[in-house]
Amino acid sequence: MGHSQFLVLGFLYLVLCSCFSYSLADQDKDKITVLPGQPTNVDFNQYSGYVTVNQQTGRALFYWLIESPASRKPESRPLILWLNGAAEEIGPFRIRPDGKTLYLNPYSWNKLANLLFLESPAGVGFSYTNTTSDLYTAGDGRTAEDAYTFLVNWFERFPQYKHTDFYIAGESYAGHYVPQLSQIVYERNKGIANPEINFKGFMVGNAVTDDYHDYVGTFEYWWTHGLISDSTYRSLRIACESGSSEHPSLDCMTALKSAEMEQGNIDPYSIFTRPCNGTASLRRNLRGHYPWMSRAYDPCTERYSEVYFNHPEVQKALHANVTGISYPWRTCRYFFGYSFQRAGHEVPLHRPRQAFILFRSFLENKPMPS
Ligand SMILES: *[C@@H]1O[C@H](CO)[C@@H](O)[C@H](O)[C@H]1NC(C)=O
Ligand SMILES: *[C@@H]1O[C@H](CO)[C@@H](O)[C@H](O)[C@H]1NC(C)=O
Ligand SMILES: *[C@@H]1O[C@H](CO)[C@@H](O)[C@H](O)[C@H]1NC(C)=O
Repeated sequence: MGHSQFLVLGFLYLVLCSCFSYSLADQDKDKITVLPGQPTNVDFNQYSGYVTVNQQTGRALFYWLIESPASRKPESRPLILWLNGAAEEIGPFRIRPDGKTLYLNPYSWNKLANLLFLESPAGVGFSYTNTTSDLYTAGDGRTAEDAYTFLVNWFERFPQYKHTDFYIAGESYAGHYVPQLSQIVYERNKGIANPEINFKGFMVGNAVTDDYHDYVGTFEYWWTHGLISDSTYRSLRIACESGSSEHPSLDCMTALKSAEMEQGNIDPYSIFTRPCNGTASLRRNLRGHYPWMSRAYDPCTERYSEVYFNHPEVQKALHANVTGISYPWRTCRYFFGYSFQRAGHEVPLHRPRQAFILFRSFLENKPMPS
């Protein structure tokens, strides 16, 4: 090899090295040293922080990466993007009723894959925009484009995940976001031999699909579980079914109100357990009475999250809310008029073992065990 070639190579090496270490430095800044109240036996790495998705308006999305434990070889495991931020459902940490301390979830999905939680769109959780009008002009299209921009930039910060098997998953309203983002990734990967975002598949649970089917499914569920009367069921179907959930007709609102009254004070996501009413006795009564439920199931989980993630020292440890967002952190609560107050706890929280097995089968591309 000639002298000059050697120099050129050396120079290239230096340039490549400095780019690489530049992104690794950004990555290091995002590394979580310790979360307030976390247990001592945490054997996995975590990173969190912001990725700017629009410079002009100042939109930045917040992520939290929870890797697999070192003993499970994180570098050999896939990466899962989880859209909707409910890290306490499938992630390794559960929050205690004190809203301050954490304990480990034995069925955490990070035993199987590296988990990348994304709070999306801007305005959800710690994700924000510096242009308030962004919050009113948001829509599914921009949400998907922002999430795609997030991914492209995130992979630059975490180049070790380029070409890793990559999946997109989520629940509830992610029934929209997950397939829409999947489609963009799929389209932009087309014709690329070895894509950096090595997209393998997507998964949604309890998906919001479209108003008509979501209404029919919900009303049938209420009626067949004896939560509403025959006449309210008929009114709901007549008044709501062909309308939009965002702008329900007056008749539909009346029927929804009757349904709400007839259901009484229940947890619509877990009708066989007591709702969260904030009393300590509630949790004691619950334990052991519902053998098909996880013993860990606690209907007040969302409340603990709201307390925990609003602690300034927790936000500091997570590198979150660095710009002083003007409103507090909340669990996602959204849409469907007022009859769905929450889109909170879902299958992974109620039946964590079954959900874990489902996820393992999904990654192995095998049917669920019978
Ligand atoms: C939003 O504004 C704050 C305060 O000016 C600034 O520090 C931050 O970088 C901006 N965010 C983005 C994504 O531009
Ligand atoms: C909370 O639940 C307990 C136990 O079921 C009940 O006695 C109490 O009245 C409830 N409180 C509220 C405010 O609903
Ligand atoms: C961000 O921090 C401010 C205090 O600087 C607090 O009032 C606000 O509730 C926080 N917002 C979020 C989303 O955590």
